[in-house]
Amino acid sequence: MFHYDNLIAKYNQSVPRYTSYPTVPFWKDWENNFLWKETFQKHFIKNSENSEGLSLYIHLPFCESLCTYCACNKRITTNHSVEEKYIETILKEWSLYKNLMSTPPLIQSIHLGGGTPTFFSPENLEKLINGIVEGATITEDYAYSIEGHPNNTTEEHLQTLYNLGFRRISYGVQDTDPVVQNAINRFQPTENVRKATEAARRIGFTSVNFDLIYGLPFQTVESMENTIREAIEIQPDRVAFYSYAHVPWKQKVQRLFDEGDLPDAGLKTKLYTTGKVMFAEAGYTDIGMDHFSLPSDELYKARMNGKLHRNFMGYTDTNTKALIGLGVSAISDIGVAYAQNYKELESYYQAIEKNEIPVIKGYFMDESDLVFKQYILDTICRGTTTFKDDFRDLLNEYSIPLLLEMEKDGLLTYADDKIEITKAGFHFVRNICKAFDIRWLTDLTNQGRFSKAV
Ligand SMILES: C[S@@+](CC[C@H](N)C(=O)[O-])C[C@H]1O[C@@H](n2cnc3c(N)ncnc32)[C@H](O)[C@@H]1O
Ligand code: SF4
Repeated sequence: MFHYDNLIAKYNQSVPRYTSYPTVPFWKDWENNFLWKETFQKHFIKNSENSEGLSLYIHLPFCESLCTYCACNKRITTNHSVEEKYIETILKEWSLYKNLMSTPPLIQSIHLGGGTPTFFSPENLEKLINGIVEGATITEDYAYSIEGHPNNTTEEHLQTLYNLGFRRISYGVQDTDPVVQNAINRFQPTENVRKATEAARRIGFTSVNFDLIYGLPFQTVESMENTIREAIEIQPDRVAFYSYAHVPWKQKVQRLFDEGDLPDAGLKTKLYTTGKVMFAEAGYTDIGMDHFSLPSDELYKARMNGKLHRNFMGYTDTNTKALIGLGVSAISDIGVAYAQNYKELESYYQAIEKNEIPVIKGYFMDESDLVFKQYILDTICRGTTTFKDDFRDLLNEYSIPLLLEMEKDGLLTYADDKIEITKAGFHFVRNICKAFDIRWLTDLTNQGRFSKAV
């Protein structure tokens, strides 16, 4: 068996986070392909009309200032007059989908992501949600959630959202150390996080998540310990502890970082294990790659009863046959196909003005994609997967040799057509998923376009 440092050296490769399979570089350009766009709409109709309902992801891209690590699709502005046009456009986009359906939509979940959804005024968020649910039926087990910035989430926001049915909020905390905050251009006193959390709880939110990142410039084991201690003191129900994705070829703003100030792979792993140990000591369970949860939270329950799912939002406890993404850059997942909207705001607006569903790229899965997608989802959500008879040739040629190698390194066990990830293997779950990524393994042109595994 390898020593941990050797494992890091061996497995710290460029690896996707597997929020989709096949991953985005394999998706096709649909901009001028009317047949594909039409086929996507036909699949949408089929998959959206069922008794479990639809999930909606709504991307709200505006932020008042730029955090220099950020890999999300965002538009920086302090001009709040942009809110109204954006909301009207989202509602128009939703009406294009509703026009395709023969029955009123049944909504199971709504997630407002960003950018910074709390950039929008409470009145405009209310207008948005009321417009979305107008004429729709809502399932009994519905779940509405929002990503809020602790600096600009007001009591009025929280009360308005609560009245609309929101019970889950996720705050970006990232790091509480002043030196790190200075390097990432994000100035956020922990007091703001505490106040925003207490207000959410008082008003009735039942799940508060914190996003933290390890691997940011100037982080040390000591500063990470302080950040985590301060976070744990406020007792979030869940924590997403993300590995900093350094992708300067995609996110030009990350070029502002001096790469010498970033923790190397060894320190990055220490930062992660520091967090993992501290979360465990504080009663949080390791849900998967980068999520921790208190046993009272729905995410923990989903992990325990095998219902955990993974999509573009990361780990989730909801999994409907159709997830529709509305807004600039939003992604839809309708089981057999993915589709992504225009990434530039102006092109997104233009498409909606022409009454076009604004998808620009996407992917239709074939039978083999569906089999390997399931292996990846099982591995990343449950830590185990059992092989099927279908596409055994691909499995034997590409996956099994890599899995055997990982078994030798102590990352997993392989017996009776089944793999199980070991404790040490969890840190390398992205690498294990890569062994099932047939599209990637059989195409050498895309290698190196993802952030490092560690
Ligand atoms: C859209 S932001 C969330 C809400 C809000 N905009 C905020 O910053 O508070 C989603 C999360 O993605 C994570 N994130 C953004 N860029 C990242 C990167 N390069 N690597 C890892 N995580 C990143 C951050 O933790 C962030 O909170
Ligand atoms: S981390 Fe959040 S607030 Fe900062 S730029 Fe990205 S989306 Fe905006």
